[in-house]
Amino acid sequence: MTTIAICNNKGGTGKTTSTIMLATYFSTLGKNVAVLDADPQGSATDWSLLAAEANNPLPFPVTPVNKRSISISPTGADIVLIDCPPGDPALIDAALRTADAVIVPTSPSGIEVARMWETLEIITDKPAAVLITSAQLNTTTLEDLLNALDEAGVPTFSNIILARQAIKRAWGTTPLPMARIRRRC
Ligand SMILES: Nc1ncnc2c1ncn2[C@@H]1O[C@H](COP(=O)(O)OP(=O)(O)OP(=O)(O)O)[C@@H](O)[C@H]1O
Ligand SMILES: [Mg+2]
Repeated sequence: MTTIAICNNKGGTGKTTSTIMLATYFSTLGKNVAVLDADPQGSATDWSLLAAEANNPLPFPVTPVNKRSISISPTGADIVLIDCPPGDPALIDAALRTADAVIVPTSPSGIEVARMWETLEIITDKPAAVLITSAQLNTTTLEDLLNALDEAGVPTFSNIILARQAIKRAWGTTPLPMARIRRRC
């Protein structure tokens, strides 16, 4: 079993969206996936409930957890994804302790990038990689972020998630396995 925390201290960076999209993708590969919703706002749980109400349930369970129950491994799961909350040091710390690896989603905007660096600093003993989300190609903000990550030697996913209305509309649905993704050149 591999446990991956989707974590950024800042709110609204695409944590829940990335968690649900990745979980859907791993499910299509035949993996037994479990999502742990560590955000007290319950966004991943709400997403799952809405999809079920629409008679198109997500192909994996979403379970709300707190800083104690987060360490209980879901039975039979190959891959566990933890949707982390923003700005909750105790819960984020519990998620990072439970995880084998961490994905840090961020858009290329200034405030999100600042919080991304802070988040990377607290991930001291786990492999971590940055996932760039809600990006626009051919913008200086994206180029600056890519250059800064390269210079700092921070592992970064080569696929960049573009800002797309279709991704916004995916909330509460069982999404197609891959959002539209452009490969970084
Ligand atoms: N690639 C994208 N293109 C367009 N909109 C996006 C994209 N990714 C996420 N969003 C939108 O950005 C908003 C925040 O996304 P999301 O809820 O996944 O972030 P979050 O980090 O989980 O937020 P929170 O910290 O509040 O839990 C949502 O409205 C979502 O639909
Ligand atoms: Mg969220």
